[in-house]
Amino acid sequence: MLVLGIETSCDETGVALYDDSRGLLGHALHTQARLHADYGGVVPELASRDHVRRLLPLTRGLLEQTGCRLGELTAVAYTEGPGLAGALLVGAATAHGLAYALGIPALGVHHLEAHLLSPLLSKPAPAFPFVALLVSGGHTQLMRVTSVGDYELLGETLDDAAGEAFDKTAKLLGLGYPGGPALAQLATSGTAGRFSLPRPMLASGDLDFSFSGLKTAVLTVVRERALEDAARADLAAEIEAAIVEVLVAKGLAALRHAGLKRLVVAGGVSANLTLRARLAIAARGRGARVFYPELEFCTDNGAMIAFAAALRMQLPAVSSQLSARAGGFTVRPRWDLETATQ
Ligand code: KG4
Ligand code: ZN
Repeated sequence: MLVLGIETSCDETGVALYDDSRGLLGHALHTQARLHADYGGVVPELASRDHVRRLLPLTRGLLEQTGCRLGELTAVAYTEGPGLAGALLVGAATAHGLAYALGIPALGVHHLEAHLLSPLLSKPAPAFPFVALLVSGGHTQLMRVTSVGDYELLGETLDDAAGEAFDKTAKLLGLGYPGGPALAQLATSGTAGRFSLPRPMLASGDLDFSFSGLKTAVLTVVRERALEDAARADLAAEIEAAIVEVLVAKGLAALRHAGLKRLVVAGGVSANLTLRARLAIAARGRGARVFYPELEFCTDNGAMIAFAAALRMQLPAVSSQLSARAGGFTVRPRWDLETATQ
């Protein structure tokens, strides 16, 4: 089974080829970061137009690079949601067009499900069941994952996502877009503790998060006085420490709640090295293990879409519904993972 995966939910155009017996054959990515940098965030219309420009050349290049032919494909998978409507439509329309022309099925994939399953691409892969901490630019969720397609939401952010907290506070520090990696980089030369920021909902007793207060607290600090370089680095380190401390505490609380010892962390923020270091220490103390995607698959990419589709296609309920037919299709800019089950 050879699946072409297409990701266009936000500002990365990603394509990949996954074969269920040979594994990931290759992937290609075009990031739009520079396109949106001047605006300090993603401009949806520019994102859609760039996906239109990039998707087919990227796919052609991937086929050349892997030596695969379109005729060998079993299915074309694409991100159906959640994400930017126009951006999603580019991937969905391309996937359905290709699939129709080739006489094979097109399969819509939930973007968060793909993030959540992406650590299974690595070795050793976590066994089911596990707790997943999804930390992306748009979502922060804790899920109990019993098997492919069986997800129970344990907690989520009430306002900003962890990635959003990184991005918004980075903007307040005058760092470019996307802010997460830039803030993490600046934090390496600073020391947490010189500034004192809140750890939102750390002691709330549930598995929910709230990060918008952090942004307000940082705004108060930067408004009070101009910060010299060392102070900016210290503030960055404190911001990172505050976000990481909450994620670590809630991740471990979720393991306790679910009675499990395996924690999977996925989504863009799972690339954060401080989060990885802190989680390693905390998990060791509890006899738990933490699993991540490869660094290149933490942020949006086509590999996780092709892989999630290949896993879903093995579910009887999904495979029996797959057919190569022309017809309408839809995208789901808003879509709960719990409803995207088998
Ligand atoms: O999963 P992702 O690529 O896109 C969404 O599905 O939203 O996540 C992007 C988010 C952005 O907020 C970005 O700032 C954050 O992940 N991010 C990081 C790091 N790398 C990416 N945040 C903190 N540290 C990083 N190293
Ligand atoms: Zn994502």
